[in-house]
Amino acid sequence: MNSFKEDILSGLRKEQKTLPSRYFYDKKGDALFQQIMHMESYYLPGCEREIIEKQSADIAKILKEHNPHWNIVELGAGDGTKTAVFLKKLDESEVSMRYTALDISPNILKENKANVTAAIPQLEVESVAGNYFETCDEVLKKQSHNLILFLGSTIGNYNKERANEFLQWLYKGMKKNDLILIAFDLKKHPKTILNAYNDKEGITKAFNLNLLTRINRELNAGFDVNAFDHYPYYDPLSGNCLSFLVSLKKQSVTIGNENISFYKNEVIHTEISKKYHLDDIGQLSRENSFEPVKHFIDSKRYYSLSLLRRNG
Ligand code: TRP
Repeated sequence: MNSFKEDILSGLRKEQKTLPSRYFYDKKGDALFQQIMHMESYYLPGCEREIIEKQSADIAKILKEHNPHWNIVELGAGDGTKTAVFLKKLDESEVSMRYTALDISPNILKENKANVTAAIPQLEVESVAGNYFETCDEVLKKQSHNLILFLGSTIGNYNKERANEFLQWLYKGMKKNDLILIAFDLKKHPKTILNAYNDKEGITKAFNLNLLTRINRELNAGFDVNAFDHYPYYDPLSGNCLSFLVSLKKQSVTIGNENISFYKNEVIHTEISKKYHLDDIGQLSRENSFEPVKHFIDSKRYYSLSLLRRNG
């Protein structure tokens, strides 16, 4: 059995059914996510861009107060378009640096290197392909004054337990003077958050349902995609924004030689996109032996790039 099949089946066998969100991103899923990123209601990328454009000089100032030279290490670096803007700003603010991009995809790392080098031709760029949980320690060990970048509010896709594990793992790999710059989507009017996950055009719905199409194709499964709906839910108390698929009827679906039954209106949990108050970021940091140095927040106060230092 391949791990995709294992992961899908073990999620659907659970009492409370789940599907892992990392499988959203097949070819169609990537294209739909690009559309989501351009939606007016999906405010996150625009806020992150604004902070990078307007506040990188302030970030540079703090970095230079700590040390003249930095080894910038990006986890899940992607195509490097927004990183190129950030690094260019640091360069203009005379931060001396080198850059190491970590990503699972060797192809995306080629694009990353091309984009970053086009922006800053003299920059020393290293690309490390692989699962960053396996490659990061080695990279951090080689240099001192690492600045770890974790952008895109990916930490929001971790529940409390995984967010703690993630920060503890980073803590162990980091050196005393290393810093993290990590993106958090902030708590805001609940309607604004819900709208980001519930567009009228149905792009987010198509994105969520595409996971079932992928399972049909890759596992020879029998999901009737039209018999499922998309349901997003935001709880302002916990900050949890959850995405579900809803079975619109009582049905049974074959996946390989297994049958999964759904009762009418049963939900499958597909994604968590947790939102944080600044106090929540402080608490999460301190629980895992970090301390916020400064939060860089956009003009709408929707989003934060939080600079954290290691305690002790
Ligand atoms: N993981 C991203 C986020 O939390 C991507 C995403 C946007 C998403 N809309 C979604 C995931 C809807 C699942 C369902 O913002």
